[in-house]
Amino acid sequence: MLQVPPIFTNLTSGQLVGEGVTESRRTVRDLAGYWLDEEAARANADQLLYVTQSWFPEPDGTEGAVLWGNTTLMPGTVGGEYFMTRGHWHLKRTRGEMCITVSGTGLLALMDEGRNTRFERLTPGSSHWISGELAHRTINDGNEPLVFLCSWPADCGHDYEVILREGFSERVFA
Ligand SMILES: [Fe+2]
Repeated sequence: MLQVPPIFTNLTSGQLVGEGVTESRRTVRDLAGYWLDEEAARANADQLLYVTQSWFPEPDGTEGAVLWGNTTLMPGTVGGEYFMTRGHWHLKRTRGEMCITVSGTGLLALMDEGRNTRFERLTPGSSHWISGELAHRTINDGNEPLVFLCSWPADCGHDYEVILREGFSERVFA
């Protein structure tokens, strides 16, 4: 029987602890090309932007598997544009995603194929269903780290390239 040992999600901090949890960090530099003011981005290149933790009970891409992770998005701006995640499309548009805010406040940007963008308010406990047909990005417009947990199908696939090329139709400034 395939069975993976449980991990722990701290419900106060949103942090994951356990076997198989991986972590990655992104600085402002890692989002080069995504900001409106690239000069300001270069000036703040080393600033920590967000940290993600992931738990893949089964390998990425496994049909039927569900993955689990968090994001801690720092407060701040680049040339007045609030700190944000890269944002992406799911390659399989039938694959959605569930997110819940742990702490902090921010915005969830959702954009359809017609490039219509709308925002949902992220606030502790707010729980969001993201249709697989929508590109999604999070933005921290608060004063403290924005922490949220997400669960997504392992076989959804991620397309960051289109966002890098075309961006979202709306940006959020202080
Ligand atoms: Fe996603």
